[in-house]
Amino acid sequence: MALSASHRFFFFFFSLALVSVLLTLPHSVVAQCKNSPVIFNFGDSNSDTGGLVAGLGFPVNLPNGRTFFGRSTGRLCDGRLVIDFLCQSVNTSFLSPYMESLGSTFSNGANFAVVGSSTLPKYVPFALNIQVMQFLHFKSRSLELVTAGSGKSISDEGFRGALYMVDIGQNDLADSFAKNLSYVQVIKLIPSVLAEIKNAITVLYNQGGRKFWVHNTGPFGCSPQKLSLVQNHSHNLDTYGCISSYNAAAKVFNEGLLHICQEMRSEMKDATIVHVDIYSIKYDLIANSSRYGFSSPLSACCGFGGPPYNYNIKVPCGQPASQVCNEGSPSISWDGIHYTEAANTIISSKVLSMAYSTPRIAFDFFCG
Ligand SMILES: *[C@@H]1O[C@H](CO)[C@@H](O)[C@H](O)[C@H]1NC(C)=O
Ligand SMILES: *[C@@H]1O[C@H](CO)[C@@H](O)[C@H](O)[C@H]1NC(C)=O
Ligand SMILES: *[C@@H]1O[C@H](CO)[C@@H](O)[C@H](O)[C@H]1NC(C)=O
Ligand SMILES: *[C@@H]1O[C@H](CO)[C@@H](O)[C@H](O)[C@H]1NC(C)=O
Repeated sequence: MALSASHRFFFFFFSLALVSVLLTLPHSVVAQCKNSPVIFNFGDSNSDTGGLVAGLGFPVNLPNGRTFFGRSTGRLCDGRLVIDFLCQSVNTSFLSPYMESLGSTFSNGANFAVVGSSTLPKYVPFALNIQVMQFLHFKSRSLELVTAGSGKSISDEGFRGALYMVDIGQNDLADSFAKNLSYVQVIKLIPSVLAEIKNAITVLYNQGGRKFWVHNTGPFGCSPQKLSLVQNHSHNLDTYGCISSYNAAAKVFNEGLLHICQEMRSEMKDATIVHVDIYSIKYDLIANSSRYGFSSPLSACCGFGGPPYNYNIKVPCGQPASQVCNEGSPSISWDGIHYTEAANTIISSKVLSMAYSTPRIAFDFFCG
């Protein structure tokens, strides 16, 4: 039964129109994941979904979690992190922390990220190389269980098809400044930090991983914590009130990260390695905060001490004496270091837009 010419014509244009509508919708809306990807994540507090609490028993109290979960989940945020929004965009459950022994489901992957982690020094909990070692253990146990007949464990095929995410490096830089290292000294450390990240990805590649998603580091010179600790403003502040030297170091690190991603693409020809420029997304959010509906971008919602930064290292968010802004207040910074769920919502939509990705590959590319 042939379509008439006019029908075909109409059908053709209707398809085109549909395609363009789908292309213009925000990605999270269109994500049609028949098979949600298995995801393994490595990193620090930017993507820790409860690892610190599970691993060290370190308490993270309300008001952390108040906005979305209604309880503390160990995330240093009032609600969801960027990684949570990425999981939701491909219709998969939030990642269970690898070390959470109760109530965890690991059929969709595992989260190895832990608050405070850096790449160096190695072999201390929970440095990047330790997280990768934990992954290797997780993998060998899963394969043993699959062999023993467990249908819930991830198979070798699952590990090969999985998405491996890495978001680390910020603490290597920030901790070095905190130890009074000079800008020049911090810059000198960057190649070894990058080598650790490359090494981690190489190990995962040699294990059969082919899909990688790498976040660069944010403008931590804009964090209320850093701004309040570095009261001695011999450090110069930029146009938006952020510490220039800290952000400059983040940028040097990020250039290097972009470079090693390019290098790895040429060395691992069958791998997909997406690099996302989180720095530009977060710096734009802070610089143009009012345009995004936020105010006081350099002041913590949950902290102590009031303006300008509302941060006091002795009274962190969650301590009885800490004060928290009203729910729904237009804050970017949650606790002086981490972003609010409201900020993460915008950051995630920009991550999913592909505008900050190299190469420009959609997150749902990783769906099965
Ligand atoms: C998400 O998953 C549910 C349950 O598996 C399914 O019914 C639904 O169609 C999925 N949605 C999308 C957008 O893929
Ligand atoms: C860094 O320098 C400041 C001011 O000179 C000093 O108070 C602080 O104790 C030093 N910190 C470290 C870790 O050496
Ligand atoms: C502030 O920084 C200058 C230059 O680094 C230093 O000489 C001075 O001691 C510092 N002041 C305080 C209070 O830390
Ligand atoms: C602020 O927004 C304008 C307009 O979108 C943009 O051109 C500029 O780059 C943004 N500033 C930063 C620091 O990202």
